[in-house]
Amino acid sequence: MRHEAPVQMAAPQDTKFSQKESSDQNFDYMFKLLIIGNSSVGKTSFLFRYADDAFTSAFVSTVGIDFKVKTVYKNEKRIKLQIWDTAGQERYRTITTAYYRGAMGFLLMYDITNEESFNAVQDWSTQIKTYSWDNAQVILAGNKCDMEDERVISTERGKQLAEQLGFEFFETSAKDNINVKQTFEQLVDIICDRMSESLETNPAVTAGKPNTKLTENPPPLQEPNCGC
Ligand code: GTP
Ligand code: MG
Repeated sequence: MRHEAPVQMAAPQDTKFSQKESSDQNFDYMFKLLIIGNSSVGKTSFLFRYADDAFTSAFVSTVGIDFKVKTVYKNEKRIKLQIWDTAGQERYRTITTAYYRGAMGFLLMYDITNEESFNAVQDWSTQIKTYSWDNAQVILAGNKCDMEDERVISTERGKQLAEQLGFEFFETSAKDNINVKQTFEQLVDIICDRMSESLETNPAVTAGKPNTKLTENPPPLQEPNCGC
């Protein structure tokens, strides 16, 4: 799943995904989500835990960007999640930010045992504002909460920062499978809520202008109210 040459990977407009998945129309909505944050906070581990229910203590830093697909069900709707796992290393920033556009949700992760990763949250938040759609939803996740002995960021500091940035907040552990599923479920919930609000307050959205890429099937026009 890892790629050696990021420049040859899927284009930001999801070319690779479209080729692979376009034949599979077996879903009602498709949400593009991104996991971002400093290197080694546990983004890849978090996605592996969620998609494959697996964890490894080996650290293989992500090169460029990668994705996994997972289908969830909500109110009898099939929601296909296209989850992009970005490299945290600075040198891949140009590549990874190119994928922000069109993302409906972000999981912004820091490591509760790493002050630097927490201090970088503000910068990551600015990157989201700069490169993504205005209505993208964000959850702040303080990962590695199984490492209580090495904790340097209190739960309270995490909560306060999330509040200040207007994000929801979870402490998580990819290792011990704490709040992994819940975090993604919450992100899907707030995206669905936002979609419903948009459809109620701005019927133009149903014409598919800003949200065209939010779903592939069925067209939003056939679903005047988000069923989520
Ligand atoms: P980049 O790809 O470089 O951006 O890093 P990343 O954020 O994807 O980190 P990765 O998932 O590769 O994890 C880094 C290291 O932290 C690995 O050794 C993981 O095993 C470990 N790790 C990840 N999540 C947890 C966790 O919840 N608890 C503990 N104890 N270790 C974790
Ligand atoms: Mg990684």
